[in-house]
Amino acid sequence: MGRPVSVEDYRRIAARRLPRAVFDYVEGGAGDERGVARNRAALERILLSPHALADVSSRDLSVPFFDRRLPLPLVIGPTGLSGSVRPGADLMLARAAARAGVPFVLSTASTSSIEEVARASDGEKWFQLYVLNRDLADSLTRRALDAGFHTLVLTVDVAVSGRRERDVRNGFGIPFRMTPGFVAGCAVRPAWSLSQLKHGLPQFGNLVSAQAKDASSQALLMLRQMDASFSWDDLEALRARWPHRLLVKGIMRAEDAERCFACGADGVVISNHGGRQVEDTPAPIDVLASVTAPEGKMMLVDGGFRRGADVVKALALGANGVLLGRAPLYGLAARGEAGVDEVIRIFQAEMDNTLALIGCPRAEDLSRDFLA
Ligand SMILES: Cc1cc2nc3c(=O)[nH]c(=O)nc-3n(C[C@H](O)[C@H](O)[C@H](O)COP(=O)(O)O)c2cc1C
Repeated sequence: MGRPVSVEDYRRIAARRLPRAVFDYVEGGAGDERGVARNRAALERILLSPHALADVSSRDLSVPFFDRRLPLPLVIGPTGLSGSVRPGADLMLARAAARAGVPFVLSTASTSSIEEVARASDGEKWFQLYVLNRDLADSLTRRALDAGFHTLVLTVDVAVSGRRERDVRNGFGIPFRMTPGFVAGCAVRPAWSLSQLKHGLPQFGNLVSAQAKDASSQALLMLRQMDASFSWDDLEALRARWPHRLLVKGIMRAEDAERCFACGADGVVISNHGGRQVEDTPAPIDVLASVTAPEGKMMLVDGGFRRGADVVKALALGANGVLLGRAPLYGLAARGEAGVDEVIRIFQAEMDNTLALIGCPRAEDLSRDFLA
């Protein structure tokens, strides 16, 4: 393949660079993966309605975002175990986000720790919280706060993990299980294998502790202690304790979004976890249309965003910004940190091109009037 020019090009290169089990972990979804496909199909179904003869000689992709402007309406979303794609993945994603001037969300299940990411990047960093158990959640939020992560993103769609059959079939997890299939997959990807061996196999960076020194004990913490009893009262209690911005990720109903706002959340992320949890939900982009955020609150969306035009459609439907999940990981797998920069640049170039072609010079002015 020549120079990659689209996110899909990067996806194809990622498929060739990663062992099958790792690519499947990134790519896969719950069950038959209809949810993953539906997220894309819903974005493709929305059509743009170009306005003729608008002056689009200069264009502005920035959008208002809380108390500042984001140069691009993008956020690099949280992806756990990203070190399985490339050692140091979280640090690379954080630095690339900082260069683009957009926030980076560090997952609870990251492979670098909160403190390592804080040292690596002085860009805007958010911390995504899974409530594994209350004590651990308290200690993680305290560490995030101390390290300068001033926005907390509580993910609420993982009471239990979705059934991702590719991972079940491949026996994928951390620590890597050296099944014959996994070892064979690594053998045909020597560059990936050597770099993993050189840097040490990935661990859950935030869970390394005196009690959980090795990846197996950290994995037990991740898998056995997800607190499935966390509910609305707990959200209120968290809101009362957390002194800064709080977003709730994984909202799929208008009334749940309203309740989050009523509890004092500063924003919601309309998300079905990229089709990795409940398979048969509507696409988040279709749910977005039914939600309105009160003045000063933010409404973000994710799921299936691979093109700048997809982001334009989300803004036209009222989103304040879009989280990217898999797309930056494709760049990371293919070209490392430079690949993440390039994926962000592709979104930027495609958004700019789309705005010019539909006659809307400012991303901020997008509305349903630009949809067919
Ligand atoms: C490999 C991978 C790991 C993920 N890990 C997390 C996570 O740790 N926490 C979380 O809130 N969401 C996680 N997500 C979901 C993403 O944040 C995001 O909601 C989803 O990927 C968006 O869909 P997209 O990948 O089609 O862009 C993960 C997604 C992927 C692909």
